[in-house]
Amino acid sequence: MKNVVLKIEKNERVGNDIYLMRLTGDTSDIKNPGEFINITVPGYYLRRPISVHRFSNNYVEILYKVLGNGTLSMSTFPVGMELDCLVGLGNGFDITKAKKPLLVAGGIGIAPMFALIDEFNKLGIKPTLVYGSQCKGDLVLVEELSKITDLRLTTDNGECGFHGHPVKYLSENQIDFDYYYSCGPLRMLEGLANYSHNGCLSLEARMGCGFGACMGCTIKTTNGNKRVCKEGPVFEADEVIF
Ligand SMILES: Cc1cc2nc3c(=O)[nH]c(=O)nc-3n(C[C@H](O)[C@H](O)[C@H](O)COP(=O)(O)OP(=O)(O)OC[C@H]3O[C@@H](n4cnc5c(N)ncnc54)[C@H](O)[C@@H]3O)c2cc1C
Ligand code: FES
Repeated sequence: MKNVVLKIEKNERVGNDIYLMRLTGDTSDIKNPGEFINITVPGYYLRRPISVHRFSNNYVEILYKVLGNGTLSMSTFPVGMELDCLVGLGNGFDITKAKKPLLVAGGIGIAPMFALIDEFNKLGIKPTLVYGSQCKGDLVLVEELSKITDLRLTTDNGECGFHGHPVKYLSENQIDFDYYYSCGPLRMLEGLANYSHNGCLSLEARMGCGFGACMGCTIKTTNGNKRVCKEGPVFEADEVIF
């Protein structure tokens, strides 16, 4: 983990209340897709944890949805503004687990999938991605995703792609995979864990410190209590107790 000051290079709206921010600076502590960064939002005591969307040694991109006042404030940040961030947080996804990966994303859970897809693409693998949202307007960056994945879209209201949520899609369609990677609403992750244990779930929790010190993000697992920010946010599907 490193405490760094990063400069906003881009902060653009890409969908319904969804923004893509590119931050430049020393991001060399980010090692794996699925990690997160913790951002100080001026005026707020607690940092806001946001997944790494894409990264290299000198930039990190985040994809965030405006939910409350902190993320609303972030959406107004101008290019050139500097942000105090903790980078290199969390365990991230283990790409060595899959030869035939299946990615499952619900809503803003699509955010960490891009860095994961980039890693698989570098290995010559085009992963299958099931990406669901409530309605068409909540699906973002679809054109790009259709180039870098075998993309299956779902919407709860049937406006676009399969009518239903991602787990319903999986139960009604045969997909050849050996391990899945997922991120999205807790209800989707629970359904996915019931559908198959051969995969991992990226969880969210309300966080205090973000680096393992306060125990505020502890969850129960079959291997005892674990901190989402330190031992997670990525957990094996069969270890999470819902
Ligand atoms: C490891 C991790 C990775 C995350 N990655 C992303 C991401 O890539 N993109 C993104 O848009 N969001 C992500 N989040 C969620 C993000 O941290 C919250 O949406 C954000 O902190 C809300 O701040 P706020 O001040 O806008 O809202 P607040 O005013 O703090 O809360 C507004 C609403 O959001 C809910 N909320 C706040 N924090 C969380 C949380 N951590 N989990 C679930 N609900 C929450 C509150 O209960 C409340 O209903 C992630 C969270 C974690 C823990
Ligand atoms: S947020 Fe403090 S231990 Fe996880």
